[in-house]
Amino acid sequence: MCGIVGVVGNKNATDILMQGLEKLEYRGYDSAGIFVEGGDHASLVKSVGRIRDLRSKLGIDVSGTAGIGHTRWATHGQPTETNAHPHTSMDERFVLVHNGVIENFKEIRDEYLPHDDFKGQTDTEIAVHLIAKFIEEDGMSVLDGFKKALSIIEGSYAFALMDAQDPDTIYVAKNKSPLLIGLGDGYNMVCSDAMAMIRETSEFMEIHDKELVILHKDSVEVQDYYGNPVTRKSYTAQLDLSEIGKGTYPFYMLKEIDEQPTVMRHLISEYANPDGTMKVDSEVVKAVQKADRIYIIAAGTSYNAGYGSKIMLEALTDTPVELGVASEWGYGMPLLSKKPFFIFLSQSGETADSRQVLVKVNELGYPSLTITNVPGSTLSREATYTMLIGAGPEIAVASTKAYTGQIATLAFLAKAVGVADGRKEAQDFDLVKELSLVAQGIEATLSEKEKIAAIVKDLLLTTRNAFYIGRKQDYFVAMEASLKLKEISYVQCEGFAAGELKHGTISLIEKDTPALALLSDPEVAQHTRGNVMEISSRGGKVVTVAMERVANADDDIIVGDVHPYLSAIAMVVPTQLIAYETSSQRGLDVDKPRNLAKAVTVE
Ligand code: F6R
Repeated sequence: MCGIVGVVGNKNATDILMQGLEKLEYRGYDSAGIFVEGGDHASLVKSVGRIRDLRSKLGIDVSGTAGIGHTRWATHGQPTETNAHPHTSMDERFVLVHNGVIENFKEIRDEYLPHDDFKGQTDTEIAVHLIAKFIEEDGMSVLDGFKKALSIIEGSYAFALMDAQDPDTIYVAKNKSPLLIGLGDGYNMVCSDAMAMIRETSEFMEIHDKELVILHKDSVEVQDYYGNPVTRKSYTAQLDLSEIGKGTYPFYMLKEIDEQPTVMRHLISEYANPDGTMKVDSEVVKAVQKADRIYIIAAGTSYNAGYGSKIMLEALTDTPVELGVASEWGYGMPLLSKKPFFIFLSQSGETADSRQVLVKVNELGYPSLTITNVPGSTLSREATYTMLIGAGPEIAVASTKAYTGQIATLAFLAKAVGVADGRKEAQDFDLVKELSLVAQGIEATLSEKEKIAAIVKDLLLTTRNAFYIGRKQDYFVAMEASLKLKEISYVQCEGFAAGELKHGTISLIEKDTPALALLSDPEVAQHTRGNVMEISSRGGKVVTVAMERVANADDDIIVGDVHPYLSAIAMVVPTQLIAYETSSQRGLDVDKPRNLAKAVTVE
């Protein structure tokens, strides 16, 4: 999704902007651009495609000490050079980058700018024309003109604005879209994401919704939209630049799949004491204990992780768990229980759909917990409590280690609540031992990469569709496994409850239709094997992924036994590798699948 970076001060702005944009690439984008102020000259360069395409267009004259840059993920208008940011006012004095969606852009154009010519189709161009109108036609100062425009603009935005006549200032504002200030010695920065600034600084300052920031090289002034000054402390971020490297891996996704045993062991050290007792914030535990129902709100893979944890959570806490698709719940909550507790699962902690629900939950005064991989992210800041996954930056768009990390983090919470409640089920569940076994089991699966590559070559290399099936916990894994295959290999793949296939979808099975069956539960494995027979006898080609306890000699991939509560973690790993192999064998850009973004910051 769109990314913003800006810098003002004693640094080479072009270098900083380009490095920052490279660090934002993982978020997903289709075009990019920078505006650099050199005092006596200014440069605006834009390009469709990758940052390397933008870099190839930079001449040596593109230099200066202040500037703003942007990666665009198209919402309004095609991904063209004209629609790429930064956008300018008609006389090119004002330059704006924007992340988010301006909902009333048509009304603004018709009411305030009926005679303006626009170069492209973006809502952002309308915003910068509006700002310019208030300053140049109505005689307002830049700050007042910007504020006036902000009072009219509706929707989500992170803005960074420059005035070509004042190369020492960047104006910044935000509502619902992420944006962060980076503080340096003799320079200051603004960015969508700390990761793009950590080469320059580890000192950051949050911006809250409906706040405006005036950045100079030596000062950062925060105020609300009424001009009241806001005092905000900075904080030091514990980010490690080396964690962002890909090393010798061809793609981040493979590196991140391989990191999962480490993530499991990290979580053990984070949430368990050496004697095996839980190290989970007692306030969170008490809040969950008081609840009569747990609502898990999430999107995509994180939503699937919620399902992968549901059986365990209910068994250990003795509390019903309901899942909510964030993009639906934002528009209307179902009838809630009397004492709800909300858990927001989000790798990025920035997903706009989830945040929309959290805002409502906060309005209603209900307690909430965000489980995220990104400390200081919006969902983390705005929920009552946070538990961090600590999986290290996840760069590939396809989420892998965050999914398994979310389930493991929920296991610590569930066990802590169950033990606090004195539940035997929880006391008997040796999570540290079981999660260590999971880590070992994942390592064994990771050593099967060649076998998995051969299965993919045989089954999925050219197919346009596939079916993944499972029962109970394996059905939830099938949902996630099929999402992974879809998003990075463009194979249309549905995750089905194995028993549902015969109620309609089986009509799609024909000769060589690929299917994958997940089998981990002795209670239901035989029934799923029955469904495998039904598919095979109609010409479908089935791969079986079976846990040792239910495996037959002729199963294709055998996964080491783990506790049933944690089976989603172990069972998903071969399917992550299948998705990875399918994408890479098809020659696709595994880490940056088309049309997708890493942090989905628009509704
Ligand atoms: C798929 C994927 C997405 C995200 C979804 C929610 O691999 O990563 O489906 O899970 O966009 O994102 P977060 O977890 O950041 O809230």
